[in-house]
Amino acid sequence: MLALARRWRSAKAPIWPAPCTRGNFSSAASQVAEDVPVPQTFEEAIGDKPLLVRDYIRQALYHPKFGYFSSRPDVVGSMREPLDFSGISGGRFAYRKHIAELYKQNDMSWFTPVELFQPWYGFAVAEYILQTMNPQFPLKIYEIGGGTGTCASNVLGYIRERQGDVYKTMHYTSVDVSEGLANKQRHRLCEEEEHGDKFSVECRNARDKSGWGEQDESPCYVVMLEVLDNMPHDLLFRESSKSPWMETYVQYDSSESRFVEHHRPVEDSLVSRCLEILGKERDGDSVDVVRKLTKSVKSIFSRVLPSPEKWWIPTGCMELLESLHYARPNMVMVVSDFSFLPEVKIPGRGAPLVSSKKDGVTTDYSSYLDAKGEADIFFPTDFDQLLILDNECAISQSEGKIVPNKFGVYRGSAIMSSSNFMSRFAYVNQVKTKSGFNPLLDEYSNTKVYLSAPVLKG
Ligand SMILES: C[S@@+](CC[C@H](N)C(=O)[O-])C[C@H]1O[C@@H](n2cnc3c(N)ncnc32)[C@H](O)[C@@H]1O
Repeated sequence: MLALARRWRSAKAPIWPAPCTRGNFSSAASQVAEDVPVPQTFEEAIGDKPLLVRDYIRQALYHPKFGYFSSRPDVVGSMREPLDFSGISGGRFAYRKHIAELYKQNDMSWFTPVELFQPWYGFAVAEYILQTMNPQFPLKIYEIGGGTGTCASNVLGYIRERQGDVYKTMHYTSVDVSEGLANKQRHRLCEEEEHGDKFSVECRNARDKSGWGEQDESPCYVVMLEVLDNMPHDLLFRESSKSPWMETYVQYDSSESRFVEHHRPVEDSLVSRCLEILGKERDGDSVDVVRKLTKSVKSIFSRVLPSPEKWWIPTGCMELLESLHYARPNMVMVVSDFSFLPEVKIPGRGAPLVSSKKDGVTTDYSSYLDAKGEADIFFPTDFDQLLILDNECAISQSEGKIVPNKFGVYRGSAIMSSSNFMSRFAYVNQVKTKSGFNPLLDEYSNTKVYLSAPVLKG
């Protein structure tokens, strides 16, 4: 039953050279004055200024020249044809063999569930939206981090086919920070599939509040599939559970020719906001007796044997939620991501997997400082924390405009296994192998879905 997803890989796909609609990350960065030397390495690009861990990770993943996603947009792979599940003779073993063969043929890129299970995964997202949308308003969907555009393609295709009246007035906006992927999406959706004015791409960082323009209170959906895992995190450190948390920053040490970590008291306002919210949950009073007992036992031990602690906190996710709740306060969120990652070598609670693949060989790194644009850095999502952050950001960004319902709740949220979501909204029979094994329901048990909507007043 327990098949743990890491990432999935696929064929190298071409990069389309069309310009981005707006907020062009790469070309803005390439407008360098003639006398400024162009950096030749990741180290030169970063320089020797101290960087918070989240800024260092952002550079490692998204630096316009050296970032993992910018320099290799083909790591997010797309499959040319949907898999023919009914053609796989056998069950789990045969399915895994089939997938292993697929990986062998495609040495470079990662496969995500929306790619592997296309079009059925995207159809399930579309079905959820159609079942829950308010028909009094034209449908507006934002997708953040749409990768190769497979989700957009499947959702738009499904709605065009199933509900032409909704399709006629709807709009799907994709926001992706990678210029290569944004161009790929535009080519596929606008030119190949002719969704024309129903689809647009904005090449920008979705965490940046100003990119969202005017506040828009009309209802909309925000879809994020495997995006939170790549959101930069900060790293907290403390000497023992009795010491205050410190923030971590990274600086290049030329005497050692490597990046090194340093700690200082928390100064950064985003780290401080995130710690204030999540620290309550972690260190605050718990009603759970077992947790209270465990805490007091730990506290006795920590006085005798103080042990340093590391905690990766989702500051990038919080920044994104703050921007979204400010700009689109009536959004419904559909999020899917890893709830757990296997074989993580990096220390600390909520630590990332840092992994690359070359010539068919996967390498896991034991330090995120070595990734330097050559490896993916991806984090598990703590869905209980996500729910807390979602609610707190909704409250803080609404400036008193949103009120809780009579139960004191601001957002109606649900955390469910991917399999539970798919059994409700997907055509599960289309994803069965010959023997009846269903990988959409029975594999990848370390992914979850988070749904969150504004509560009805009263
Ligand atoms: C792992 S890929 C997932 C792609 C796709 N959702 C899927 O499931 O196949 C992460 C995507 O998020 C995008 N991304 C990461 N951070 C972003 C940000 N701050 N703003 C917009 N897009 C972002 C990346 O460029 C990439 O397209």
